[in-house]
Amino acid sequence: MENYTFPDGFLWGGAIAANQAEGAYQTDNKGLTIVDLLPTGDSRRAIMKGDVPSLQPLAGEFYPAHEAIDFYHNYKEDIALFAEMGFKALRVSIAWARIFPTGEDATPNEAGLAFYDSLFDELRKHDIEPVVTLAHFDVPVHLIDTYGSWRSRKLVSLFERYAKTVFERYQDKVTYWMTFNEINMLLHLPFLGAGLVFAEGDNQKQIQYQAAHHQLVASALAVKACHEIIPDAQIGCMLAAGMFYPYSCNPEDVKLAMDKDRESFFFIDVQARGEYPGYANRFFNENNIHIAMEPGDLEILKNHTVDYIGFSYYSSRTISSDKEVMKKATSGNVFGSAVNPYVSKSEWGWTIDPVGFRITANQLYDRYQKPLFVVENGLGAIDQVTEAGTIEDDYRIAYLRRHIAEMAEAIEDGVPIIGYTSWGPIDIVSASSGEMKKRYGYIYVDRDNEGNGTGKRIKKKSFDWYKRVISSNGQQL
Ligand code: BG6
Repeated sequence: MENYTFPDGFLWGGAIAANQAEGAYQTDNKGLTIVDLLPTGDSRRAIMKGDVPSLQPLAGEFYPAHEAIDFYHNYKEDIALFAEMGFKALRVSIAWARIFPTGEDATPNEAGLAFYDSLFDELRKHDIEPVVTLAHFDVPVHLIDTYGSWRSRKLVSLFERYAKTVFERYQDKVTYWMTFNEINMLLHLPFLGAGLVFAEGDNQKQIQYQAAHHQLVASALAVKACHEIIPDAQIGCMLAAGMFYPYSCNPEDVKLAMDKDRESFFFIDVQARGEYPGYANRFFNENNIHIAMEPGDLEILKNHTVDYIGFSYYSSRTISSDKEVMKKATSGNVFGSAVNPYVSKSEWGWTIDPVGFRITANQLYDRYQKPLFVVENGLGAIDQVTEAGTIEDDYRIAYLRRHIAEMAEAIEDGVPIIGYTSWGPIDIVSASSGEMKKRYGYIYVDRDNEGNGTGKRIKKKSFDWYKRVISSNGQQL
């Protein structure tokens, strides 16, 4: 394999999120949050889209996030394993409802604050840089119940208060921040992404874009507060990226691909360039969407843009204007896609397209001219533990190797990428399916879809491989 060059200080590591790793869902006064209402099984997808039967967990359902992999109690052992791999960075999120259990408590919950103090201290002890997302699919359920979540303007000030609280508390411990994980998920899985619950007759698009406006203002206010409280910090946005290819050179296909990309770019155009793009204004007019704004909102968006573009990349997507082609579309991941005959697929139907990673990185840099941070990438796959107790995950190594190689090509192309935190370096609960068997890790966790298992951690074959990648700064793939 060719030798690749990565910049000195490149932030190699992994990414997890509170909602999929911590468990301990009611420990130390934590309030309920979105994923605490997401069961495994058939109803999960509908709930993630906003058809939510109850704002309390229901008897007889299994909620995998309630215990997850109990990172809340195991973080020291888990971080020691990350340190053994040589991690330079670990991306985590703070659970808003650990800090403010209802989202509007008079004072923050000291036990929650103390947990993240020790988590960040533990990382620092191992020279691992914490990269912290403020909201990773995370809204306190009380705010969903009381205000309808991000439908309401009220969430802006509550989020700002939460953000200021954690900036102040962790100002000496955290340099890299991100506001909303995969902010564009609000359009695809509105309950998962933003706690939106729909009733019959709701104009969903109107509600989604109004909620998006609130998140965008809240994000800009968080950027402002972060810069004021921690002048040396870097704060970014986070996009579920992966470009749309036109299925053919038919201009209609090319136009459709542009439109689909813009659905996602819309968010980052505001967060990185500071204003609503012209195409969005046209879209709002043509779809009868009216965004209620407060005086000063546009200035806030303009004046507080992000420092870097964080993004996840798993797949590219393909779109056609031909209905027959789209009839065979896969909904493998949340972004439906025509079948692209040039790329393969994962066991969950997500396309595997390493070159698309390079193209996506170039596309993002061409558009925003800000440093990029790859904060998620990886392969969800079924792992088998052999009789000898090993896990030979060569397929995962192959996926990651090809993607890291394409990331190196993007850097050669002139794209400034500051780090790479692969998704789920230790197996965690899948966001889209709630399964444990959809595993991304270098570290296996003995737990199944129904919550059985000892929770024991086992190093997979990819553990040593990734360790070598990091110690050679990407030279040995
Ligand atoms: C991203 C999310 O969408 O993809 C993560 O930010 C998620 O939370 C990851 O886990 C992988 O998706 P899944 O559904 O395989 O867990």
